[in-house]
Amino acid sequence: MSQVDDCVDIINQTIASFRPEVGLILGSGLGQFCDNINTIASLDFDSLPGFPVAGVGGHAGRLLFGKVEDTNVVVMQGRAHYYENGRADIMAVAIQTLSAIGCKSLVLTNAAGSLVKEASPGSVMLITDHINMTGVSPLFGAESNKRFVDMSDAYNPELNNNMRSSAKMNDITLHEGVYAWFSGPQFETPAEIKAVKTLGADAVGMSTVPEVILARHQGLPLCALSVITNYAAGMSATKLSHEQTIAFASKAADTVEKVLISYLKSL
Ligand code: HPA
Repeated sequence: MSQVDDCVDIINQTIASFRPEVGLILGSGLGQFCDNINTIASLDFDSLPGFPVAGVGGHAGRLLFGKVEDTNVVVMQGRAHYYENGRADIMAVAIQTLSAIGCKSLVLTNAAGSLVKEASPGSVMLITDHINMTGVSPLFGAESNKRFVDMSDAYNPELNNNMRSSAKMNDITLHEGVYAWFSGPQFETPAEIKAVKTLGADAVGMSTVPEVILARHQGLPLCALSVITNYAAGMSATKLSHEQTIAFASKAADTVEKVLISYLKSL
């Protein structure tokens, strides 16, 4: 049996007939969204073979099952990053498991640095496309022609519209833009930021893109939100730090929470 089969068995033993429709992955400092879940069960990542052992501050490393209003959800509270072990497929088993247990779509969230003045720290951006600056793929080594994944409309236009409406309903300004994925763990240099701005990026971060590629490989539609925690390197006098990321993500958590709840209601 594969690790995914094992995870599916463990999950099904835990949740019985409960069927999640939407999978959510919560980035740094956004764990408070889980207070809105009418939780029926939870599993630590370390009880699921192949799930990442979450190591970054602000990440809990737990899978929660439950309801938000009438929508059945499974939430990954915490994720793993390429920079943790240099393997871009660190989230592969997790994403394949979410698909195998019946999720029909995913919502990904992250903390990101902004490259545009209007999207200030504390604001939220809908990711409409990405640029992979790492040169790696979580599908290295994947077999069959299924690996040649179409990445146009990777961020699902219909789900994006639901997210736009949900922000509007709550009078929340939802910025939109292109997310550039850097490997980290070091923050970018000002020169790197200038370079990706020229290439068309609006935000930068160290996560999400591998999950997007893995989800599209599974045929899962998705949408993604960035919480802007800082202006990118060279754009302000403030020094970049993980502490700042967590602090600003927590500040924006209320905003993200409102948008996500309306979004889940709208499905
Ligand atoms: N760069 C990369 N990752 C980040 C940033 C940033 O400026 N802010 C939050 N995550």
